[in-house]
Amino acid sequence: MRKVIRKKRRRQRKFYQLVFAGIFGALLLALAGVLIFSDSQKNQNASTILSKLASYQQKDGFLSDDLTSKSLSALTDEVKAKKSDLYASDVTKITEKITALKMDLDLQTQVNALFEKPVLTQKGVSQEAIKNDLTQAAVVAIKLSALTEKNKWATGVTSSISDAKSQLTEIASLRTSISTVQATPTQSAIDQLKVEVAKIKNAALAKSLTDQLTTLEDSLALKQKYADKKYIALTFDDGPNGATTPSILKTLKAEGVQGTFFVLGQQAQSYPNIVKQAAADGNEVSSHTWDHKDLTTLTAAQQKQEITSAQNLIEKLTGKHVPFFRPPYGNFNAATKSATNNALIYWGIDTNDWRYSTAAPVVQNALTAAHSGAILLMHDIHPVDVDALPQIIEGLKKQGYSFVTVSQLIEIQNGSITPGHVYYGN
Ligand code: NI
Repeated sequence: MRKVIRKKRRRQRKFYQLVFAGIFGALLLALAGVLIFSDSQKNQNASTILSKLASYQQKDGFLSDDLTSKSLSALTDEVKAKKSDLYASDVTKITEKITALKMDLDLQTQVNALFEKPVLTQKGVSQEAIKNDLTQAAVVAIKLSALTEKNKWATGVTSSISDAKSQLTEIASLRTSISTVQATPTQSAIDQLKVEVAKIKNAALAKSLTDQLTTLEDSLALKQKYADKKYIALTFDDGPNGATTPSILKTLKAEGVQGTFFVLGQQAQSYPNIVKQAAADGNEVSSHTWDHKDLTTLTAAQQKQEITSAQNLIEKLTGKHVPFFRPPYGNFNAATKSATNNALIYWGIDTNDWRYSTAAPVVQNALTAAHSGAILLMHDIHPVDVDALPQIIEGLKKQGYSFVTVSQLIEIQNGSITPGHVYYGN
């Protein structure tokens, strides 16, 4: 009986041993399976992310349009979330790639910004802006030169930058040539410069230089026109006056003569239509300040107010910008020049019209002092000037004079108007 029981127990023990072994084996197998499965999953996770990163870099070296800082931060988040499903070595590898792509993207953004800048997109004109762009470009170029993977891209940008740099050098030398020709202009020199300017790729810059040459050409033509002619500029101050200025305008129109009116802002406000008429007849209308204060008794700020308020109103009435004015009493000081960008116009011949009640001495003063290239001073507010003007014009015509505006006179004598300069005529 005992034997039977012992046998039974041994059999039972064996049975349990087998069961345990089976369970243990199964557990081992399951664990191995889980380990194998997780291993292949980790590899797959890494390769999915890495191939996505690789797709951002195109074969030609350019970056894919899909690559944005958003897509990169999304990937960074994904790597963080899946950290336990990735091998540490893959996390390092992926993080390094993302960092590299971030730098490339940043560089591409800088290059794109650079191409939107004046010199590379040929939009702007300021030499200062171009210099700034080139400084930035040089920084980008240094970064680009460190790139080995993006040869084509880097080469393209680098060559654009060096192209821009050589353009800048050419433009600087052209500017020097233009100012040399400005000093002693000849048509052939202007023509030669025009050919050079036409080669400039920056359209706006080319236009501004062409405009300079055209102005130079016009003033050369004007200079040649008056080369062997006597010319004089008639100027009329302190108007407009409702009673006398219309008569002065009538005389000028009848004689086919154009003069220059230095009007007061206050008067122009009272007689806007006379100002408009003067301009419509081809006369030049410029400022004599707002209300004829002696500028030297005012602060720089007050002077600026006197000058600009009148100029703004005149420009509004005539639609023309005249870059000069005449200071009342001919008085000005250093503050006057700092208060305005305008040139200052004086006179060479004073008719002293205000001293007389008859035309004869005014006419005599004008005709005896007359000389070519002079600026003659009259006032369109005195009846005596209304009487004197037809005789002055007749007398000057007899002496062979042509009549020019102050702008034309400066163009003939100086080529262009320099801000702050005081012009007296010949
Ligand atoms: Ni005056």
